[in-house]
Amino acid sequence: MTEAILLVGGKGTRLRPLTAHTPKPMVPAAGVPFLTHQLARARAAGVTHIVMATSYLAEVFEPHFGDGSELGLHLEYVTEDEPLGTGGAIRNVAGRLHSAPGDPVLIFNGDILTGLDIKALVATHRTSGADVSLHLTRVEDPRAFGLVPTDGTGRVTAFLEKPQTPEEIVTDQINAGAYVFNRSVIDTIPTGRPVSVERETFPGLLAAGAHLQGMVDSTYWLDLGTPQAFVRGSADLVLGRAPSPAVPGRCGDRLVLESAEVAPDAKLTGGTVVGPRAVVGAGTRIDGSAVLEGAVIEPGARIRDSLIGAGARIGARTVLDGAVIGDGAVVGPDNELRDGIRIWCGAEIPAGAVRFSSDQ
Ligand code: GDD
Ligand code: MG
Repeated sequence: MTEAILLVGGKGTRLRPLTAHTPKPMVPAAGVPFLTHQLARARAAGVTHIVMATSYLAEVFEPHFGDGSELGLHLEYVTEDEPLGTGGAIRNVAGRLHSAPGDPVLIFNGDILTGLDIKALVATHRTSGADVSLHLTRVEDPRAFGLVPTDGTGRVTAFLEKPQTPEEIVTDQINAGAYVFNRSVIDTIPTGRPVSVERETFPGLLAAGAHLQGMVDSTYWLDLGTPQAFVRGSADLVLGRAPSPAVPGRCGDRLVLESAEVAPDAKLTGGTVVGPRAVVGAGTRIDGSAVLEGAVIEPGARIRDSLIGAGARIGARTVLDGAVIGDGAVVGPDNELRDGIRIWCGAEIPAGAVRFSSDQ
């Protein structure tokens, strides 16, 4: 049986208004902490033992997921004293693995929403006889990722993390953040200091002649590194575009969690989720957005592609488009907030204080 390591130690700073007290993997997407989707997908692929490598706000994971039995998993947690980087985090949890040296171990970045066929990645790893296999995906702009060119057989020829110059952009294939490592390769990562698997381990293995195999496909894939991506991912889960057995309800245009209160004439579309105890007032329109637990949307608000934090309040007739409203923030009536604006947790915007369109 394959076991897995889940890397969830990053700070996810760009979602800060929402993540002041919650690490990004625990922000709800389609009604459950984002990480639940990854855990449930791994379980569905036959993984039963998962070790979570944590550092930032580590204390929130275990109280929520416990020993993992609710998800049919055996979950363990290892917390770094100081962040060890992706490679250091992998090495740091090696002692918890049950696998023998030649066994495959799955490793997942904790901030990816993907339709990856996990079993197919393991099968590719076995048939190619690789030391490490990587899931690859193609993106339009690869600069924010690890570039992974391969030869005609899918064998990895280089690994270029976050290329800085145009000459370094040699492919549109990027590291999709899911790997299979032979257990023995994990044991070669140095201990006791930060190591980047992308900047140190992969280039080092390639230089030493190791066999790294790429599996490129065109399945659903999204890095949730930005608030906009997070909103998109939540909506895609609700719409069923991003497959997850953990969506609490049927997929469709909207997901209204039990105990939410939605006015009968409110229009919820585009994969909008309304969290528990949230209140959505009359005549509101909410498209492609996530309204988290206990938030209040007053009558007549128009909301698109936005994230409304837990317990936040959006005033009557206020317009939000591409906005992130932090937990507990209050946006008064008749505001207009657009284009990547982030309102900090607990902040207050008075009525009619911010507009983009002309005043009437
Ligand atoms: N435990 C632990 N400790 N986890 C960490 C640490 C650490 O010190 N640093 C990062 N992580 C976790 C993050 O929480 C995340 O789940 C994962 O490792 C990747 O780190 P990010 O900080 O999100 O990296 P990135 O998004 O810039 O780039 C990575 O992902 C891309 C795909 O989304 C790289 O792996 C790229 O090569 C890849 O293309
Ligand atoms: Mg990331």
